[in-house]
Amino acid sequence: MKKYTFITIEGGEGAGKTTQSLLLKKYLEQKGYQVLLTREPGGTVLAEAIRLILLNPNSHLSALSELFLYEASRAQHMEEFIMPALKSGKVVICDRFIDATVAYQGYGRKLNLQLINKLNKIASLNIVPNLTIYIDIVPYKGLANEKEINKDSHIFSNIKEFINHNFGFTVNWSGKDRIERECITFHNNVRKGYLNQARKYPRRIKVIKTQKTSEKTQELIRKIINTVI
Ligand code: TMP
Repeated sequence: MKKYTFITIEGGEGAGKTTQSLLLKKYLEQKGYQVLLTREPGGTVLAEAIRLILLNPNSHLSALSELFLYEASRAQHMEEFIMPALKSGKVVICDRFIDATVAYQGYGRKLNLQLINKLNKIASLNIVPNLTIYIDIVPYKGLANEKEINKDSHIFSNIKEFINHNFGFTVNWSGKDRIERECITFHNNVRKGYLNQARKYPRRIKVIKTQKTSEKTQELIRKIINTVI
């Protein structure tokens, strides 16, 4: 018997996964499910504070401290937010999760994959998503899509103000974030990482290509969802 429904959405920069996650949430709610939409890094106040450190272009992080911060954010998010929601029977949709760490820190930063898998397992409390949708886009196109928008708007609209106020540091920057600013080779390696993960776990990870419109991409996602829910 399936104990929980945990769906993760992955994709390179500019793949449109945030829009797709929102559309999917709406779809599942229309079907009568109680849905919690969240994201990584982030999802709790502490994890959102870590997100701001991670994405701030002015942060000078070593690859290893970057990895630990993503895992710290995940550990907090799992314990405080995702596990209670899964236990209460909600469908959880998470915009990025463990596969992002394999792709970005493993294939992008070239950190040891065994170490990443071990840390992923610990931080995620051994919970593996039932389904992962990887939205594939070639990086040079995705990076061009990535407009200078405020991605924080839909979930934690006032988080920057909250953190400025409660943590006492200012976290404003404009334009692309620290990871988006990485070179094209980095992003190509990230994509290789995702595609490798999908080959390794074909039952869990489904790959779809970005379509001309977000509605068309959503149709593909819904087809997959309907086979598992
Ligand atoms: P996003 O809002 O575009 O998903 O921003 C999150 C960024 O963090 C994105 O560039 C991917 C990156 N990331 C990692 O490098 N490792 C991770 O484990 C996660 C969850 C995200």
